[in-house]
Amino acid sequence: MKAASSRRCDEDPPSPRPQPVGSVSAVEVEAAIRTRRTHKAFRPKPVPRDVLEELLDLARWAPNHNLTNPWRFRVLGPRALERLKRAAGPEAASKLDRAPTLVVCSCALSGDPVQDEEDLHATACAAYIVLLAAHARGLAGYWRTPEVLRSEQGREAVGLPDRERFVSLIHLGEPVQEKGAPERAAVEQTVSYLD
Ligand SMILES: Cc1cc2nc3c(=O)[nH]c(=O)nc-3n(C[C@H](O)[C@H](O)[C@H](O)COP(=O)(O)O)c2cc1C
Repeated sequence: MKAASSRRCDEDPPSPRPQPVGSVSAVEVEAAIRTRRTHKAFRPKPVPRDVLEELLDLARWAPNHNLTNPWRFRVLGPRALERLKRAAGPEAASKLDRAPTLVVCSCALSGDPVQDEEDLHATACAAYIVLLAAHARGLAGYWRTPEVLRSEQGREAVGLPDRERFVSLIHLGEPVQEKGAPERAAVEQTVSYLD
């Protein structure tokens, strides 16, 4: 692997600062991406239904090859949460009470391996949109993959059929405190420019 340089490639002129496109400010998009954090403590107030609808509506704009719309979101009500807690068992159940709003995100599978792989990626993008859009509204989020949603009992508790792959139990709510950013690998470790 060739190390990344500060230039995109030797022939390219230095890139100018990104300019706003329409009403989208590149600076604000960048700030949202950099400052979104995983929160594990939330205030008790659930995310209002209209805000939740905005987040899940935005998720539809994830990139999606062949426009298969593979993402599925199930917002847990009190009965579904109780079923999930029972399936999780007493120790794991308490962790399901951390956030006031829980959304199961899954990917509808077609049975075609290439499409399913791409749809899984698209669904991950959709889940990320929910987290980023929540952050943009001052809400805290957490992408969690608890063991219970890999079990038959857990899947049944939230009505996940065999033809859906569990992706995330998205936790949402108001933040309790600011979170520091965990370190990321330097860009040179993950980027190479090929001849
Ligand atoms: C596919 C996926 C699964 C994750 N599952 C968990 C999880 O089960 N438990 C957890 O504590 N964090 C989980 N996370 C969150 C990461 O731990 C978190 O994004 C990482 O620590 C970086 O922190 P940040 O989101 O604040 O930048 C998951 C993230 C992704 C993308």
